Amino acid sequence: MNKLVIGNWKMHGSPADLWDLAHAVQRDGLACDAAVCVPFPLLPAAHSALQASPLRWGAQDCSVHAGGAHTGEVSAELIARLGARYVIVGHSERRVALGESDALVAEKAHRVLAAGMTPVVCIGETSAERDANETATVLKRQLAPLARVLGRALSAVVLAYEPVWSIGSGDAAAPGVIADTLGLIERTLHFQAGMHQGAMRVLYGGSVNPRNAAAIMACPGVDGVLVGGASLHPADFLDICRAAR
Ligand code: G3P
Repeated sequence: MNKLVIGNWKMHGSPADLWDLAHAVQRDGLACDAAVCVPFPLLPAAHSALQASPLRWGAQDCSVHAGGAHTGEVSAELIARLGARYVIVGHSERRVALGESDALVAEKAHRVLAAGMTPVVCIGETSAERDANETATVLKRQLAPLARVLGRALSAVVLAYEPVWSIGSGDAAAPGVIADTLGLIERTLHFQAGMHQGAMRVLYGGSVNPRNAAAIMACPGVDGVLVGGASLHPADFLDICRAAR
C-alpha cells in the first residue's frame, strides 16, 4: 500500500503558503500520496491552489452535527463541498485542551465518512500514561468507540498514532517503540473489530522531519506519517514525501 504523508498545519499558514507549496509540488513532483490539513479559513484557498495538484487537502476537525443551528460549528458536509479529502479528528491538542471524548471522536469520524471523506483519527498516550505503563489501556480505550460506532466502515479510517509526549518535542519515538505500539494497535483492532493485518492505514506522528522520516516509515506497520512543524516548509515536506518511497 502506498505510504501516506499528511501535513497538519495546525493554526499556521496563509493562502500564499498554499500557493508556494502548490508551485513546489508542480516543480518537484510528489513522491507519494500526500495532503495538507489546514485551518478552516484556508480551505477555500486550498481548493483554489491545489485543485489541479496531486496534493490533496483537508481540515483538522469538524462538527459532530450533520448541520443545523450550531453556531460557530463547521460540518463535514461543508468541508466536503470544498473538495477536501481528509479530516483530522481527535488530535491530542483537542482531546487534552478541549476534553474531546473518545465517543465524540468516533462520532466525528462517522460524520467525516458520511460526507465522503477520510477521517484521520489520532490516538496516543501522554508521558504520564506511558510512565505509568498505561499505554495499552489508553489506546484500547481510544479505539473501542471507533469499532462500536463505525463497524466494518472502520477499514476506511486512517489511524494516526501520535504519542503526545513526542509532539512538538523534536524527538520522535524510537523505531522500536513505534513498532511495538503499532503491533499493539493491530492486535487491539483485531480483537475489538475483527480487523486483519493491513486492513487499515496507520500513520505515525510526533516530531517527524526529513532526517528521521525514512527510518520511521521503515518501521513494521507504519503506512505513513502525520507531520506538524516540518509540513510548514515545502522543501522539508517534499523531502519527507520522498522518504516515503
Ligand atoms: O498532527 C501532527 C502533529 O501533532 C505533530 O507535530 O510538530 O511534532 O510534527 P510535530
